[in-house]
Amino acid sequence: MNQERERWKTKLGVILAVAGSAVGLGNFLRFPAKATLNGGGAFMIPYFVAFLLLGIPLMWMEWTLGRYGGKFGHGTAPGIFDSVGKNKFLKYIGAIGVIGPFIILIYYIFIESWTLAYSYFSFSGVLLKNADAESMKNFLVSFQGVAEGAPIWPAYVFFIITFVVNFYFIYKGVQGGIEKLSRWAMPTLILIAIILAIRVLTLGTPDPSVPQQSISNALGFVWNPDYSKLLDAKVWIEAAGQIFFTLSVGIGVILTYASYVDSKEDIALSGLASSSINEFCEVILGGSIIIPAAFVFFGQAGAVDIAKGGVFNIGFVSMPLIFDKLPLGFIFSGLWFILLFIAGITSSISLIQPLISFIEDEFKLKRSTSTIILSIVAFIACQPVIFFIGHGFIDELDFWGGTFFLVVFASVEVFIFLFIMKFNKGWDELHQGALFKIPRIYKFIMKYITPLFLLILLGFYTYQEFISRILLEDVKNPIDKIYMWGARLMIFILLIILFILIHIAWKKRKENRL
Ligand code: ALA
Repeated sequence: MNQERERWKTKLGVILAVAGSAVGLGNFLRFPAKATLNGGGAFMIPYFVAFLLLGIPLMWMEWTLGRYGGKFGHGTAPGIFDSVGKNKFLKYIGAIGVIGPFIILIYYIFIESWTLAYSYFSFSGVLLKNADAESMKNFLVSFQGVAEGAPIWPAYVFFIITFVVNFYFIYKGVQGGIEKLSRWAMPTLILIAIILAIRVLTLGTPDPSVPQQSISNALGFVWNPDYSKLLDAKVWIEAAGQIFFTLSVGIGVILTYASYVDSKEDIALSGLASSSINEFCEVILGGSIIIPAAFVFFGQAGAVDIAKGGVFNIGFVSMPLIFDKLPLGFIFSGLWFILLFIAGITSSISLIQPLISFIEDEFKLKRSTSTIILSIVAFIACQPVIFFIGHGFIDELDFWGGTFFLVVFASVEVFIFLFIMKFNKGWDELHQGALFKIPRIYKFIMKYITPLFLLILLGFYTYQEFISRILLEDVKNPIDKIYMWGARLMIFILLIILFILIHIAWKKRKENRL
């Protein structure tokens, strides 16, 4: 047993930290776009089904496995899986739970740095000088250094600031960094989101000559159920994918956060509380800002076009234009990007922590040394993301890290919880120190429904998308294909390095025991 690992200071602290990991760019950008394009109110049916049958069970399994591994001094999947079962391959399978967060991190942190830059551009008045969608788009591609002759250095400066801030909190530790940050960041984030939601919901009918573009029609548009969409398998896949991404399950981060919970402390209620905070921020707040705002200013067709234009288009092009139409628009625009930055940083530190925990726990290095090593590796890995952004590099990393590995890793976790740890032991472990008794129906759901749901999802996913995605059939430009294969090569090399590190760590441990 390892006595030296850090612990969360308070129950509220860990709940807010996990909620901080969950509430991210996905809540305010990805969710509204997905809901609008996949049947509005009808999307909420598969969404909540996935929440109850996949999200909640997986979240409890991750908290349980994580806290269990923490008792043996492990905070990441290789060590946790190895403490659960004796099979020597389990630790290598666990590598997905370490590589996954890293892949997401290296593009997430760059996008997060744009939100910091854009809050600066908003408050300084530069951003809202772009009066239409075309010039706003040009501003974005110039900032990203993609436009012909545009310098990359402004984006690079904001990237460095964001990177340093992230690693500063990581360096300060679980209690002194992550927990402290989450305790003020989460209430601030919720407050800003409420201010923005109230501003949007009180827009009324901004242009009286177009009475149909009213806020009540906007809400009707967002939430009116289009039941025909329920017959489309893609809508169910999208809803389940959103649940994974937004709750941060299947990534590996909850395992790590839970490993710092004392074995006598509650995880059942804490898990439920952090998931509920996430759902409030996503459905209530996320659903009340961008799409209703787009509707009242650009009409129904405009709102759909904006949602179709993708996440970056909504966040960095449409939203500033919408705020520009309001009195004191630059303040709302600035607040919007600060909201995204706070949502982003509490998620990105949760993506860094598993790797720190891996280095600290498995190589017994100090936090300062682990932070230095990881920051160098992460900094190098971020470079292709920054310089090859125009060639689909981010899309490719997002597919593997943010979509594919999530479903695969979640399936592995379910398998380990049910068959290696064994369900009854897992259920008892989950209830140790629990502040409430989980309804018995969840025994049935976790044992049968969740694995079945995952299998069906994987089956449909493979059938509908996987092959064409692997072959990059939708990518028109052959040069982009080369870069995207480069991204795959990078992931492959990182995975091999991780296997070698796991091998070395366990070999050393064996030698020390002899
Ligand atoms: N859960 C995080 C988000 O929603 C990753 O952005």
